Amino acid sequence: MYVYDHIDRTLVQERVAQYRDQLARHLAGELSEDEFRPLRLQNGLYVQKHAPMLRVAIPYGLLSAGQLRALAGIARKYDRGYGHLTTRQNIQYNWPRLEDSADILADLAAVEMHAIQTSGNCVRNITSDEYAGIAPDEIVDPRPYCEILRQWSTFHPEFAFLPRKFKIAISGSEEDRAAVAFHDIGLHVVRAADGSIGLRVLAGGGMGRTPILGAVIRDFLPWQHMATYVEAILRVYNRHGRRDNMYKARIKILVKALGSEEFARQVEAEWAHLEGGPGTLTGEELERVKAHFTAPEYAPLADEDEYTSATLASNPAFARWAGRSVKPHRVPGYRAVVLSLKPNGIAPGDVTAEQMELVAGWSERFGFGEIRVSHEQNLILPDVRLTDLFRLWTEAKEAGLATPNAGLLTDIIACPGGDFCSLANAKSIPIANAIQDRFDDLDYLHDIGELNLNISGCMNSCGHHHAGHIGILGVDKDGDEWYQISIGGADGSAAGGGRSAIGKVIGPSFHAPDVPAVIARLIETYVAVRHDGERFVDTVARLGIAPFKSAVYDVPSPSSSGAASREIAHA
Ligand code: HEM
Ligand code: SF4
Repeated sequence: MYVYDHIDRTLVQERVAQYRDQLARHLAGELSEDEFRPLRLQNGLYVQKHAPMLRVAIPYGLLSAGQLRALAGIARKYDRGYGHLTTRQNIQYNWPRLEDSADILADLAAVEMHAIQTSGNCVRNITSDEYAGIAPDEIVDPRPYCEILRQWSTFHPEFAFLPRKFKIAISGSEEDRAAVAFHDIGLHVVRAADGSIGLRVLAGGGMGRTPILGAVIRDFLPWQHMATYVEAILRVYNRHGRRDNMYKARIKILVKALGSEEFARQVEAEWAHLEGGPGTLTGEELERVKAHFTAPEYAPLADEDEYTSATLASNPAFARWAGRSVKPHRVPGYRAVVLSLKPNGIAPGDVTAEQMELVAGWSERFGFGEIRVSHEQNLILPDVRLTDLFRLWTEAKEAGLATPNAGLLTDIIACPGGDFCSLANAKSIPIANAIQDRFDDLDYLHDIGELNLNISGCMNSCGHHHAGHIGILGVDKDGDEWYQISIGGADGSAAGGGRSAIGKVIGPSFHAPDVPAVIARLIETYVAVRHDGERFVDTVARLGIAPFKSAVYDVPSPSSSGAASREIAHA
């Protein structure tokens, strides 16, 4: 667990004091709305449909039990008793009062958390693999690298006003569990033939209205050069990014316009000034940061447990949950456990204060007081003893956190959409819930197998719909809410065969009531044509969208209103 030093602590506390003064002056009428807006945004406070929305960073998805309890306390004291986990390892509060915002930031600072750079055109929260430090396929624990970049980028004066927001993800394992190709900069740890550690550097990825996969601009960057190389990329972007047009301001547009080779050439030219300079990382510096991550004291345990094996054999519900939610661990006798925040009828990613407190307690009883937040909007207990799995399952079930759907169709990623977000074209949460209702037969769900279904309420793609094996995008037509469906997207993880791909739109969009039936047709088609053991996304890769398209459009439309036919009137 990363523990703040005096620099971190001072920085965060000074920021709270500064903001408290700014807020007081705004509330006293001394700072106008226009003057105050950039100040609040610099502290993660947006204004949304119903209330301000506060976005709190969870660096690389790592939380201590104390931090999770503090987040629960904030939800209870200042909000409506819950928080919302996002795809960027942040937690959002939907209902805080502006008047309370400085107090909330002070409560966060007390547990070494903040909302700095969770908004604005700067380097945002750096995301990573939720299984960092425990994954059996890990090459190097990416968290110290994330932390070095966090420290480097926090309040970096040169990069406080970039052309647009900037997102960096690092994956330290063979499997990409951080969707690196969908980030402005993606860093994937690689080991060279001589055993040395480096980074494959991708740049110019992103979703939004122009989804683009990041291009590899360097195959192998020795780790010592991480910060200077990132600096070179940011400099090229800062200089040439399209500040004149917000819709073309992301780095992906620059990389596309220049071509990735020319972009890489410019980065290398810029880097020539920085290479070997003071930003070069030393073994000593890496050790300094690593030392802040106190490693848990794992007990020497057997990797088999008779009681657990017997319970798995005799209790199908437990076995079903274990099959989906229990993940391998590199230390014998331990497992990582996904606590699903996707039961039917809940907004994906919502977690109540009571649940947060329970999870904090479990993390202490069944682990070392650590929790992870995944970009799939679930919570993870990283260090559960094999012998405790049954007890944990029993309690998690009671708390509504043991839906056995991790990685399945109902483990839906969804943005808040029209229920909360003022940018939305359409709602996301009721669509997610309607699909979850339609697929509530667990046997069928498990038979369908691994499938990422992602929903965004508008082009901004907060729900990662482009990367979904099935993606749903809310679109506005004549002031009405419609949904466009794409298939074949993949986020780079093993669930999509390790591919990173942008989904293809299957055709005209649908009205909300038709969406579950359309998804059902896609699934029925897959079940009919799949090879043995073939995942949905692999079937789409093999056959293309044509059979799915005809299954959806070449039959009478699902609802009486007629999805496809109405579409023509709206085209
Ligand atoms: C309700 C408050 C929110 C607002 C106002 C908001 C706003 C935006 C905007 C304007 C963009 C597009 C940026 C661009 O392309 O330049 C965006 C992208 C994104 N947001 Fe949000 N968002 C909100 C909530 C969320 C939530 C809840 C999540 C996660 C569930 C999220 C995760 C993301 C991601 C992953 C992207 C895509 C970044 C990319 O282009 O690669 N946001 N958001
Ligand atoms: S995708 Fe659109 S609707 Fe959804 S949270 Fe992002 S900006 Fe809002």
